[in-house]
Amino acid sequence: MKRFYVETYGCQMNKLDSELAEQALAEAGYAPTDDVRAADVIVLNTCSVREHAEHRVVSRLGRLKPGGALRKEGAVLALIGCMGQREGERLFQVAPHLDIVTGTKEFVRLPQLVDEVTRTRQRLAAVDLSEEFDYVRDPRHRAERHRAFVTIMRGCDLHCTYCIVPTTRGGEESRPLAQVVDEVRRLVDDGVVEVTLLGQTVNSWGKQLPGAPDLADLLAALDALPGLLRTRFITSHPNFFRNGFWERVRGLRTFCPFVHVPAQSGSDRVLKRMARLYTTAAYRDMVAEARAAVPDVALASDWIVGFPGETEADHEESKAFLEEVGFAQSFVFKYSPRPGTPSERRLDDDVPEADKDRRCNELLAVQDRLAAAQCQADVGRTLEVLVDGPSKTNEARLSGRTRRNKIVVFEGPAHLTGRLVPVEVEWGSTQTLYGRLADRPADDAAPAPRRPLPVVSPA
Ligand code: 5AD
Ligand code: SF4
Repeated sequence: MKRFYVETYGCQMNKLDSELAEQALAEAGYAPTDDVRAADVIVLNTCSVREHAEHRVVSRLGRLKPGGALRKEGAVLALIGCMGQREGERLFQVAPHLDIVTGTKEFVRLPQLVDEVTRTRQRLAAVDLSEEFDYVRDPRHRAERHRAFVTIMRGCDLHCTYCIVPTTRGGEESRPLAQVVDEVRRLVDDGVVEVTLLGQTVNSWGKQLPGAPDLADLLAALDALPGLLRTRFITSHPNFFRNGFWERVRGLRTFCPFVHVPAQSGSDRVLKRMARLYTTAAYRDMVAEARAAVPDVALASDWIVGFPGETEADHEESKAFLEEVGFAQSFVFKYSPRPGTPSERRLDDDVPEADKDRRCNELLAVQDRLAAAQCQADVGRTLEVLVDGPSKTNEARLSGRTRRNKIVVFEGPAHLTGRLVPVEVEWGSTQTLYGRLADRPADDAAPAPRRPLPVVSPA
């Protein structure tokens, strides 16, 4: 039997796309392998978000030359995802030993592309972005038993000046509500209890669909699925929590009060040059509205340091804003000019690398201090934890997450994996809480489940 090997770079959506590629190959009769040397088809699913991500792929490609120790004779080498979409056939010049280049949509045709290349021994590039993306996911192809990611929209209609994603993933396309609910129902039937909905601007989901449903409608529809315990969604844009979003979701049993809504910068000057379409004042208003409805909502942010023209004063504003909003988690990135993006074409990458490094560390230090204080505040509380399984650092203990996405480590039997349990927090480090199983209900338990619908007996 022919075997395939898939290696994934980049975001959660890419990880899920890899699962779809695996599904397509498995349906065509290939079997998976974890050993690249045993593979007849080698797939690299790539990311273009920063130069560093692309460099890692280029150096990996260098090690996959024919005749090398990692590539079985006759193995087909395919590069899919954002880099493939961005570079297309040009990649054959960088890596003449690549057989297939495809992008963020046509990768679902991988088995046909492999057949064609095997037959003709001609290299092949397939990077059409215009096709509609349509598939029925097989719930068996997933990384974890009790948690799953579900793509609810692809692409992005915004034009943040630093960002390559509109080029690599095209315009925004939402999947219909019924299709998403059906996919989640099938995942739940197969043992999933937590889903994370994915989209580049996930809270603008639905705007092009008939009747223009929004994310709150979708979360409510999923909330009605018995067996589903938690829903999360990433990544949000601060401008798209509309129509009383927070009021509408706060009473949902499965809604988790942890929202990833990147600010990117705390300087209005920089936000303007990033074309983020909001000011810090508008962001503050969004936070106030969220907290008025969901007082304990935890917010996470991405930040870009060293954006062209970012001064020390701008950077100090980002630090102050991080502190003022009191974010629970931050992901900090050094600006990386991406070919063809507006900031790369129009603005000089003028902040020295050493300053980018320092600013990155400074923001992370502020975030660490806040996160540690937030952990301390949880000591003594009993929190609802969804058990993920044995802790990575200590197999004898279990690890799980609170509704507000804090990691909790505690002692308990492995069969609790995938279950909700109350854990009394005994102490906290910067990022992690430690505690013990409690015999009383959690203080932050979700709202009571809705009354089940009456059973109608068949006539
Ligand atoms: N340089 C650095 N960071 C970037 N991001 C997106 N594009 C760039 C870039 N050109 C960051 C943003 C985004 C996250 C996924 O990656 O913070 O939210
Ligand atoms: Fe990387 Fe962005 Fe593509 Fe995800 S969408 S793989 S983060 S470039």
